[in-house]
Amino acid sequence: MSQFFTEENSAETVIARLDKCSNPRFRQVMESAIHHLHDFVKEVEPTMDEWMLAIEWLTATGKMCDDNRQEWILASDTLGVSMLAETINHRAPDGRTEATVLGPFHVDGAATMEMGANIARDGEGEPCLVSGRVLDIEGNPIEGAVLDVWQTNGAGFYDVQQLDIQPEMNMRGKFVTAADGRYWFRTAKPVSYPIPTDGPVGVMLNAMGRHAMRPAHVHFIVTKPGYDALVTHVFADGDPYIDSDAVFGVKQSLIAPFVLQTDTDKAREAGLAAPFWSTEFDLKLGAAA
Ligand code: BEZ
Ligand code: FE
Repeated sequence: MSQFFTEENSAETVIARLDKCSNPRFRQVMESAIHHLHDFVKEVEPTMDEWMLAIEWLTATGKMCDDNRQEWILASDTLGVSMLAETINHRAPDGRTEATVLGPFHVDGAATMEMGANIARDGEGEPCLVSGRVLDIEGNPIEGAVLDVWQTNGAGFYDVQQLDIQPEMNMRGKFVTAADGRYWFRTAKPVSYPIPTDGPVGVMLNAMGRHAMRPAHVHFIVTKPGYDALVTHVFADGDPYIDSDAVFGVKQSLIAPFVLQTDTDKAREAGLAAPFWSTEFDLKLGAAA
């Protein structure tokens, strides 16, 4: 006998319509989503005005998205969903470097640069040397690992946020390790910066009484055939937002000191003028499953 919709049976009535769904994983996902959505509405009991406000927020979030702006990723990040998915998918506690959010500002096609090159094409910010080794989990150097790195400029903006101001591909580059697994590149000292707040996610954060700041960091994607790709950051120790990242991306193991170097010999070696900042951060890759 068909069952008409009631408050009590709402989720089950909708789920019963999935009986012809041929993809078992999709069916599982949709059943769970319907259950949780109905439980949420039953708990919150939104007024029709509140429900419409939610629809308008969702609509505005979609409309904000284009090739340079991904408001949905930002929404997922600020609600902790991206970090939860990331953490669930990288549980293996085998010594590999921990992963964190990709974020919406990665751009494909950064140029491969000579080891040691300066990615700060605009010359903004305080000079900084970022270095370390790419290793396997036993500590052996990995040759031919590709590091795709990106960060904001010294003023706290990504190039894609300032298309008319920053040089193209500013603060982005790829570096390939030699047999010793070492990498190093020159850049600007990363600064804490706000995620974009001029869209629906900014409205939501503001209404929740939350700040939009991320602690200073440099992004990495490290790849090498035979190993799992590593998507991570190094965060600057002591940053005022280290304990309250707007997107929950900080993990203790990803925090490293950025040290002010005043030694002129070291500066010459690094190809920078003293004083400059430096940090060392090893990246450990786990073998692909
Ligand atoms: C970022 O670090 O680039 C980022 C991550 C998540 C949301 C916004 C920005
Ligand atoms: Fe970032």
